[in-house]
Amino acid sequence: GQLDKLAKEAGLLYFGTAVDNPSLNNQNYLRVARDPAEFGSLTPANGQKWSNTQPSQGRFTYGSGDAIANIARQAGQQLRCHTLVWYNQLPGWVSSVYNRDQMQRIITAHIQNVAGHYKGRCYAWDVVNEAMEDDGRYRNNPMYRAMGVDYITHSFKIAQQTDPDAKLYYNDFNIERCCNAKINATIAMIRTIKAAGAPIHGIGMQGHSRVGMSPSKREMKETMARFSELVDEVAFTEVDIRHTKAANRRRRKRATRARLHGSCRGLFGDAKYSWIPQQYPGEGEACLWDRNYNKKPAYHSIVGLL
Ligand code: XIL
Repeated sequence: GQLDKLAKEAGLLYFGTAVDNPSLNNQNYLRVARDPAEFGSLTPANGQKWSNTQPSQGRFTYGSGDAIANIARQAGQQLRCHTLVWYNQLPGWVSSVYNRDQMQRIITAHIQNVAGHYKGRCYAWDVVNEAMEDDGRYRNNPMYRAMGVDYITHSFKIAQQTDPDAKLYYNDFNIERCCNAKINATIAMIRTIKAAGAPIHGIGMQGHSRVGMSPSKREMKETMARFSELVDEVAFTEVDIRHTKAANRRRRKRATRARLHGSCRGLFGDAKYSWIPQQYPGEGEACLWDRNYNKKPAYHSIVGLL
């Protein structure tokens, strides 16, 4: 086994996982999550999101994010930070702001505080998360309503000023299969914000998928090639593969195999604490360990690919 070790030997940057706070008192879970040979990188699944870090204006709380960051530090794992500006898990006091200058000041203060708190500790930051719609339009979120696309450019500039060593990522889902409307629009958006002076180093493909629905190797290679023309790094950031029943081994393997080809820079999976069962009831077997911390066939097929 030992996914991170094998990933690095194969020339990838790391193999990581997300960790959520409720899992932290579960020693069986932690034994896997803090094993640096399996996971070279940890990401707080929720702890660094706006609703956790600035629940009310000017009150910053870092307990949840710090708990995961500290585990990573103790275990010698990298920290991948997620996320600064996202329409979801965004407190109401932000989403009710419609004034451009006010929103700009709020974003500035948020990034300066949060990225400032973690300065020097984040290998990468997902600066902006999920800004595009599947049909290629900009997501009409509170930041977009107040500032238009400038909110994205602005966020990257402030993140760069605040933590100049962090790799700054744009992160989204359904941008793996080349080349749908969302991918084309994402490429256009990245060009737009770069032209406006946004420093951006990476694109994160979340990689949420379903057995039998995974993009092909060719489709993913094409996407990664196109993104690589714009940024230095491309990562799979939130890989999970949903399936309703215990899908048979062959199909599970195929889904995993398609996902791993190409020059991906990072991955994460998880076990019992995956978000999938809450969001998609009955489709919870989306990750690499089962809820008893036994490795699933998907784990072994990844090992076979690395
Ligand atoms: C999910 C978390 O895992 C859940 O615990 C939470 O309830 C909702 O958010 N895209 C993202 C992640 O970028 O932050 C989301 O994480 C899953 C979708």
